[in-house]
Amino acid sequence: MNTAPCTDFTLEAVYESMAALPVFPKIVHKALSILDDPKKNITDVAEIIKFDHGLVANILKLTNSAMFGLSQQVSDLETALALLGQNRIREVLIASAAMPYLSRDLHGYEMSPQDLCYHSIGCAMISEVVSRRLGFPNASELFTASILHDIGKIVLDIYVGPRLGEVLDRSRRDESDFSIAEWEVIGTDHAVAGSSILQHWEFPRDICRAVRAHHDPDLYIQNRLSAMLAFCNVLSVQLGLGVGADGFRYRLSDQLLYVLGCTERDYFACIEDGFKALENAQEVIDFIFS
Ligand SMILES: [Fe+2]
Ligand SMILES: [Fe+2]
Repeated sequence: MNTAPCTDFTLEAVYESMAALPVFPKIVHKALSILDDPKKNITDVAEIIKFDHGLVANILKLTNSAMFGLSQQVSDLETALALLGQNRIREVLIASAAMPYLSRDLHGYEMSPQDLCYHSIGCAMISEVVSRRLGFPNASELFTASILHDIGKIVLDIYVGPRLGEVLDRSRRDESDFSIAEWEVIGTDHAVAGSSILQHWEFPRDICRAVRAHHDPDLYIQNRLSAMLAFCNVLSVQLGLGVGADGFRYRLSDQLLYVLGCTERDYFACIEDGFKALENAQEVIDFIFS
């Protein structure tokens, strides 16, 4: 019998928890808009972010990690940005700013601070190889959605924790995905909460929509970015990346593969490519937490 205190779910309480989260650094959105401006250059990006010392430290840490595979170690922001190039800068900015949110102990989902980080970074690394394999043109957008796709867990954790046994029992009994049982027991799921957080942080609508849809087949089949994110998430679960209590309680649907035009051969190639890409993932996480 679950004797843990029950934290009752109310939409108001969830929205209050979201509003209480430290806001995603506006400086990152500003830097991203500078990257899109053909009249600006990398020096302009550095000028914007150089005063946020925590962000710069995370950027240097990630740039020097195996995640970005540079051939030399860098110790200053401008060199790091010059070596990364436009798309990689976008990715390192998002990943660096997301790290403080993802490095949390999520007791409710039975995830350590490393787990959500590992799952999110790993999913983003997988997204790059899957984008290449399936010819998806918006790889950078998918990378961002992948890093942030489970961000809703940081808010729902306190509601899921006391009722986790109930959610898992229901998921086993009905042979349903964890997110469906999460809805039935808690009254919402982490995909909905995550999408709301990203809207609150003023992320582009397509990314919010993909995060909202990542466990919902009726939604993710309607949009290629959403379907790609759902696929990358399932692959990262199948590869055992930072999975918590919900880890293996999600299935890969034939419909998703069909929508993506992903043959059985492509699927196994994605698994193989993902496995190779992830050789460095644990090293990245160890480096981040060092
Ligand atoms: Fe999820
Ligand atoms: Fe996930």
